[in-house]
Amino acid sequence: MNADSRTRLDQTSEWAALNKHREQLGEVQLRELFAADPARGTAYTLQVGDLHIDYSKHLVTGETLTLLRELAAATDVFGLRDAMFRGDKINTTEDRAVLHTALRAPRGAVVEVDGENVVPAVHAVLDKMSAFSERVRSGEWTGHTGKRIKNVVNIGIGGSDLGPAMAYEVLRSFTDRGLTVRFVSNVDGADLHEAVRDLDPAETLFVIASKTFTTIETITNATSARDWLLTELKAGQDAVAKHFVALSTNAEKVSEFGIDTANMFEFWDWVGGRYSYDSAIGLSLMIAIGPDRFREMLDGFHLVDEHFRTAPAESNVPLLMGLLGIWYGNFHDAQSHAVLPYSHYLSKFTAYLQQLDMESNGKYVGRDGKEVDWQTGPVVWGTPGTNGQHAYYQLIHQGTKLIPADFIGFAEPVADLLPGLVAQHDLLMANFFAQTQALAFGKTPDEVRGEGVPEELVPHKTFKGNHPTTTILAKSLTPSVLGQLIALYEHKVFVQGAVWNIDSFDQWGVELGKVLAKRVEPALTEGAEVPDLDGSTTALVAKYRDLRGR
Ligand code: F6P
Repeated sequence: MNADSRTRLDQTSEWAALNKHREQLGEVQLRELFAADPARGTAYTLQVGDLHIDYSKHLVTGETLTLLRELAAATDVFGLRDAMFRGDKINTTEDRAVLHTALRAPRGAVVEVDGENVVPAVHAVLDKMSAFSERVRSGEWTGHTGKRIKNVVNIGIGGSDLGPAMAYEVLRSFTDRGLTVRFVSNVDGADLHEAVRDLDPAETLFVIASKTFTTIETITNATSARDWLLTELKAGQDAVAKHFVALSTNAEKVSEFGIDTANMFEFWDWVGGRYSYDSAIGLSLMIAIGPDRFREMLDGFHLVDEHFRTAPAESNVPLLMGLLGIWYGNFHDAQSHAVLPYSHYLSKFTAYLQQLDMESNGKYVGRDGKEVDWQTGPVVWGTPGTNGQHAYYQLIHQGTKLIPADFIGFAEPVADLLPGLVAQHDLLMANFFAQTQALAFGKTPDEVRGEGVPEELVPHKTFKGNHPTTTILAKSLTPSVLGQLIALYEHKVFVQGAVWNIDSFDQWGVELGKVLAKRVEPALTEGAEVPDLDGSTTALVAKYRDLRGR
């Protein structure tokens, strides 16, 4: 279906039908839905790979789901999905294919871009990464002075940082605990300072991750890291080869920086930054967990790719999750979506999803070049659940906003947890189950009164409930399960972008700030002329210079 000729989303009969249905449902109560269908808790569930998905606590009926799937059909979500998997250039504003799915395709698969099968090149890079990772892990790769590498510092930002940084945390129990792995992204010098201050440069490998190799934050930090290393080692430029590798699509810029392109791990323009961590961008992670675990993770991604590509609409989990988000964002005015993992290891998971979702679908211009008249991507937020319970859950339970949430939990604690701590896992999971229960079913005034609460406190202690949640439960948090989870969210984001008719794969909205920063920077130096900025920025720059005594 052509993005330009397609009927405007809000003019389709399927959109109108959903609006009408929303009116008819009114303030439908989860208590009522469960009373009417006691089997709902098992009926409204799906399984994909190792992930059990419970969507019973949503403000939907069978009819809602049918109407949402009809909207997906009318907007040809599966047509665009097939075009993506086929390698069509569905990122139209950048004229690029969108093929992160090829990064996890098995050896021997065929995925063509401009008539060329890209899978052999994907595996050639994975093989090169594996060989290099093994050399570092075994101690065969040494630094300039012959010392073994014990520290890996990944320098990158956005998609060249968030993915490997998040996955490193998630898979910590699978990492080589003898290696120190750190991630530097912020151009604030404090980030690099804290990352290297206690490291021996002779034992440190810098992994410079940048798709474009022009991102100012990354190149600035990489240059400072190189200066630090050469100064500390009292070495010349030739030391760079043993301490710096690059992950990039831009060989020219890598070599300009002084990194031998033999030490460059390549990827391609059909891999979006926020979809790149299972490309060469995952090298630091691969060094930490080893090539076999990395492959298990890729296989997890691939499993969900295949599910999304082939499962019928009724059992297609990314389709369902995308449509539920549309139900709340477009028909209930929900503005945000919380992702609440009940695992300490998933502490960076939501931050990763913020880029994935908000950079993909935070857009008001459609693929047809016209402004949309409907809400697009939500604000995605959240932190590990039990901490959130003692911070912001109050607002989810009793605030005035509708906040749909995903709860992610695991039946087993990670394998290498100290034996004395294993018992705590049931307490963690008791909280996990209790919270979605409380959010869904609340506590009525009569129930509160029944506890002997004085009348004036009854309204305060009443929980209206009816807050929708999805529960995602898996046996344990393995590399494969992580891959499955990320692929699930990638395709959920895809589904929503397809329905909203936006290009989920460009990010023009980040450009203006970059250009303006380049204009402002020279104005901050002593004696510099302040260019013609707006009234507020000029005053702020003057204040800054004053505070710095410039
Ligand atoms: O500025 C946004 C962005 O382009 C992201 O999309 C990307 O992940 C990040 O910057 C880093 O870009 P690069 O990998 O080219 O340094």
